[in-house]
Amino acid sequence: MNPVRVGLLGLGTVGGGTFNVLRRNAQEIARRAGRGIEITYAAAREYDPARLPGIESVKVTDDAFAVVDDPDIDIVVELIGGYEPARELVLKAIANGKHVVTANKALIALHGNEIFSAAQQRGVMVAFEAAVAGGIPIIKAVREGLAGNQIEWIAGIINGTGNFILTEMRDKGRDFADVLAEAQQLGYAEADPTFDVEGIDAAHKLTILASIAFGIPLQFDKVYTEGISYITREDVSYAEQLGYRIKHLGVARRTAAGVELRVHPTLIPDRRLIANVDGVMNAVLVKADAVGPTLYYGAGAGAEPTASAVVADLVDVTRTLTADPENRVPHLAFQPDALSDLKILPVEDIETAYYLRMCASDRPGVLADITRILGDRGISIEAVLQKEPPEGEQQVPIIMLTRVVREKQMQEAIEQIEALQSVEGKVTRIRLEHLKSS
Ligand code: HSE
Repeated sequence: MNPVRVGLLGLGTVGGGTFNVLRRNAQEIARRAGRGIEITYAAAREYDPARLPGIESVKVTDDAFAVVDDPDIDIVVELIGGYEPARELVLKAIANGKHVVTANKALIALHGNEIFSAAQQRGVMVAFEAAVAGGIPIIKAVREGLAGNQIEWIAGIINGTGNFILTEMRDKGRDFADVLAEAQQLGYAEADPTFDVEGIDAAHKLTILASIAFGIPLQFDKVYTEGISYITREDVSYAEQLGYRIKHLGVARRTAAGVELRVHPTLIPDRRLIANVDGVMNAVLVKADAVGPTLYYGAGAGAEPTASAVVADLVDVTRTLTADPENRVPHLAFQPDALSDLKILPVEDIETAYYLRMCASDRPGVLADITRILGDRGISIEAVLQKEPPEGEQQVPIIMLTRVVREKQMQEAIEQIEALQSVEGKVTRIRLEHLKSS
């Protein structure tokens, strides 16, 4: 059988990795797919041929639309990233009857509903395994491997750059900016690295995970998102003293009141496997009713790990090219007409435990004032840590862990604590998840 002809948009980190993996493992891939998969046309503004042995046999243009309009191309692989022109290119490829593979989480999170609807009408596939957690096959696991379950919650370290920064800060006491520069150099960070550190990239990925877990439309605008830039080395150290690690977590949880969708720094008990996921590695913990907890771990970014997911999608698409569109795995795991419009909860209504750090006067009654405010709102304290005042100072750091409470109650309590004369400045509040499997 003739090889499948692939048009590759982008020859950067992931595009280059995809080209190299497809070429290096061509025979093994053909044995799996049932026919060869060849990149015959590529679009790139600039690329380094020295990194891409064999690229001279591929036609390369700087006009991505020429690739999506080429009648000889069967599958378009979009690895340009960003919202536009990626959206226009993907919709054009679909309109031209081509299948699409993409690693573009921003595109899927924001425009996936429109793209999948167009693909369904045209009877083509849009595969996006590489969009979430790089090389970890989490889309396949949740969409297919867990299809017999009701998924209760997902908690994931789904941004490698952020995890790399937090790990280096904790282990080596390195500066935030310095570690970020290294992540950029290694090709992990987004074109705009604020997407990594402010949690936008993780929110894109969480949007996708929540959709395929709960069978809800993609709703990026409803994800509550907080970055890691306010986390200090002191917080990391206090958390460790209390038996916790701070991770930038994406959490999607189905509750009786609705769905929680949130990305924020989170304390996790250090005995949990996921608390020990360091560096650029990603991990996704899924709690489902039949199987219980399952954990998926691997490289969340980088050229070849991400290429691994892109190529797996190419194999999947190639195998099902001739399948009746009705019999393919639905894009969002559930049949399009069976998606439900579960309510997404505003952050005030989420329920979680908290780490609080405040600076208070070192005199009798201060701690009692603080605990009274918490107690009046039914907020139980799980642990308190009071440190010695620094030499010559009258203010002491007080660290508290609370039990689970509604965010709104905690916000009100924090406002009252900050209004106390004996408390100086703002209260630092970091959410805490026990991630219990029962
Ligand atoms: N910037 C992303 C990360 C790349 O650091 O995880 C992979 O999506």
